[in-house]
Amino acid sequence: MKALILSGGKGTRLRPLTYTGAKQLVPVANKPILWYGIEAIVAAGITEIGIIIGPETGAEVKAKTGAGDQFEAKITYILQDQPLGLAHAVKIAQPFLGDDPFVLYLGDNLIQGELGGLLKVFEQKALAALILLKSVPNPSAFGVAQIDEQGRVLKLIEKPPVPPSDLALVGIYFLSPVIHQAIAAIKPSQRGELEITDALQWLLDQQKPVDSCQLKGWWLDTGKKDDLLEANQLILDSCLSVSNAGIVDAASQISGRVSIGATTQIINCTIRGPVSIGSGCHLENCFIGPYSSIANDVTLVDVDLEHSVVLQAAKMIGIHQRIVDSVIGQRASLKAAPQRPKALRFMIGDDCQIELA
Ligand code: G1P
Repeated sequence: MKALILSGGKGTRLRPLTYTGAKQLVPVANKPILWYGIEAIVAAGITEIGIIIGPETGAEVKAKTGAGDQFEAKITYILQDQPLGLAHAVKIAQPFLGDDPFVLYLGDNLIQGELGGLLKVFEQKALAALILLKSVPNPSAFGVAQIDEQGRVLKLIEKPPVPPSDLALVGIYFLSPVIHQAIAAIKPSQRGELEITDALQWLLDQQKPVDSCQLKGWWLDTGKKDDLLEANQLILDSCLSVSNAGIVDAASQISGRVSIGATTQIINCTIRGPVSIGSGCHLENCFIGPYSSIANDVTLVDVDLEHSVVLQAAKMIGIHQRIVDSVIGQRASLKAAPQRPKALRFMIGDDCQIELA
């Protein structure tokens, strides 16, 4: 069993963050989204992992994620020159995949729970494909499944304007090598891509055994700001443990689950967890409220912030109005005059410079 993780694409829905970086490397609770997928795959006992990268962000994904040693896995990088679809990515990965079954994992998807149980079902039933489904309020934005009362898959359609159900295809698929035959048989869709949904439909048409499982826990496709904040909240809720490798002065108050990285200085701050703070940060006279993640080397002075993600080396000074539901890009700089504006709600990209005078 192998794994193929897709980490290409332009991340247009997460701009401006993705002008300067891969969407799969945007951190959730201070860890790149992509790494959650790698860890889940390794936890299921799969250590041979191929990662599809694109020309724009491939070098960054490769440099940051490495050969797999830190995950106890072996990672092979495969370049997809053009974003021609998920099934196209599988096609170009064929030399890596060989005749092995594999889990196809979209690198910006995050799910609650393990893959091990699903892998067992896939193997024990000797399936051609096992797909995961989740009921969503906006099925037209996804691949959608029509199933019968027994849960058998009848039909799969990519982004239908009139969806036959509210069951979206989660971006994690267990596939047997027969999928290569299916991919060879399908044509590009209207958006010009070879769709994995169409390849799965081909398997159904050929009466191959395709089964589905409905995901009970949460699922997030972290392609947009609000999904990113929600993922941050869910991960902080479920995975954060208390640790303090920083320097906290006597005037600061820390409550709830808070992790603080090495050499981070906390001076006269109130921090209410769950909050994750990276290393090398300087926080002074701040209130940091629940569900905030602050990356490495961030400076916050006179700042009041909650339910927000602050990326590496961002700097905010003198923002007394509470910052909520915000994503602050790498190296962004935000300074305010003493007068208080009424409300602030941001999605600020990397390298932005904003002064509220
Ligand atoms: C892709 C698949 C879609 C699936 C979704 C899950 O969509 O084509 O069937 O439901 O991932 O994240 P895309 O992200 O390419 O729009």
